[in-house]
Amino acid sequence: MDFGIDFGTTNSACVGIEDGSREIRFTDGYGNPFPSLVIIDRATGRVYCGREAWRRREELRESCEVITSVKTLLDSGTIWNIAGRIWTPEMVAAQVFLALKDRVRKRTGEDLLKEALVAIPVGFPAGKRVALREAARLAGIEIKSFISEPTAALFCHYKEVGHYTRIGVFDWGGGTLDVSVIENRNGRVKELATAGLNVAGDYIDRLMAEWLHGRIIKKMGLQVSFNEMPPEARDKMLAYCEQAKRDLTWDERAEIQFVNYGEIEYVHESINFDDFSGLITPVVDQAVHCFENCVRQAGMSITQLDCILMVGGSVNLRPLSERIAKSWNGKEVYPSDSDWSVARGAARLSVCPGKHLLAQTVGIIMSDGSLYPLLKEGQPVALEECISATFALVEDEPAANLVFSDGEERILGYLNVPAFGFFREKIEVSAQIDRDLILRVKARSLNRTARTTREWHYNALRVDYQLPVTRIEVTDDE
Ligand SMILES: Nc1ncnc2c1ncn2[C@@H]1O[C@H](COP(=O)(O)OP(=O)(O)OP(=O)(O)O)[C@@H](O)[C@H]1O
Ligand SMILES: [Mg+2]
Repeated sequence: MDFGIDFGTTNSACVGIEDGSREIRFTDGYGNPFPSLVIIDRATGRVYCGREAWRRREELRESCEVITSVKTLLDSGTIWNIAGRIWTPEMVAAQVFLALKDRVRKRTGEDLLKEALVAIPVGFPAGKRVALREAARLAGIEIKSFISEPTAALFCHYKEVGHYTRIGVFDWGGGTLDVSVIENRNGRVKELATAGLNVAGDYIDRLMAEWLHGRIIKKMGLQVSFNEMPPEARDKMLAYCEQAKRDLTWDERAEIQFVNYGEIEYVHESINFDDFSGLITPVVDQAVHCFENCVRQAGMSITQLDCILMVGGSVNLRPLSERIAKSWNGKEVYPSDSDWSVARGAARLSVCPGKHLLAQTVGIIMSDGSLYPLLKEGQPVALEECISATFALVEDEPAANLVFSDGEERILGYLNVPAFGFFREKIEVSAQIDRDLILRVKARSLNRTARTTREWHYNALRVDYQLPVTRIEVTDDE
């Protein structure tokens, strides 16, 4: 089975493709992606994951460390000391991967999830890529390759949108809004601009919870803020609000009914669509503006986009659909199956991969000012393949000063290599792109020992992605 994983801030979606054609979604047991939430008991170190843990997160906060959004904490230096054990974000993220592995084992009866293609946001920093690979490795999963989230979403919907050139991607999840503008020329995908916000579904749930709480408290003549409510009560309210939010995608009114809300025995409230819409309009506006700014940053206007791909659970919000219909009228929008598109696209690329192409040149500036290219724009990225070149020192200097540039006047970095300064002393340079797309360059004088080798790492290598020509047909088992 080939796997694609969308490791989200809030939810992680894992999709497998069996025999190259049958698609299986590994859900949280309720048809949704798996929560990326890890809860660790402070006394025993026991780990809780999954939808049940997510439902009880506020209650468990009393006795446990509740770790949300671990994706944003990767490579941050954060550590937790829980029940006598040090936890790093990689170890925490590994628990989410382990839980996904377990879902696969439960569904198929076998430990099949051993390697996967993993989707990451545009501009996901190199340190986080390394940390995510390590997290997967700790869970016994090898990341075959990374693919950017918008590219994976595009590939999932290639049949419908593959003929378009300028595509906006609006990915609104639980924790973040990630927007980008991509260009598709015969399957070569280039990222033109990207932007984001830390305001998404979880924030909306809280807005609703606080609003409903205010109404309930007022009716009862009490004075207690939402944050002062017992954790279990907050949990319940947030979980019911999340459900009500989903119900309001189709319904005009959502009912919230449950027993034991703190001191209150019975809660029966409702929220109608207009109130809901009024409550979240500022958030929707913020998201829409963020997208419009990103399009502007790409040097375009909304009307110049050929279509917009809507990805992530929160794009189902009706106030957003209505707002879009009004502001971006006539623009083709593809919202189908939004919370699984990224993982499905990644799984398909796992069966039939494309390749990364260099979107920039990297070279060394010669003494005459010309550029000697080590990597050339447009070349396929040959991971871990070594490119070497030998240069001669033209000056009597105790060091060779290498200056790296992209050939467009931008200096990317410097490397100072010890030398003897003999005339025609040879300096050997070798370059390699590793699996996390970090360029690693080593250089030394051939007249000096290996100990004098100096290294330069370039973390911001720009790459495009060439989608495969053959597109697999899959049947969805859901
Ligand atoms: N029908 C719906 N209406 C409104 N919101 C929805 C609906 N379905 C799911 N959501 C919300 O979508 C969010 C989860 O989306 P998704 O799974 O795309 O997040 P994620 O990828 O983990 O997060 P992120 O992209 O921020 O890392 C949750 O807040 C959920 O409540
Ligand atoms: Mg997401």
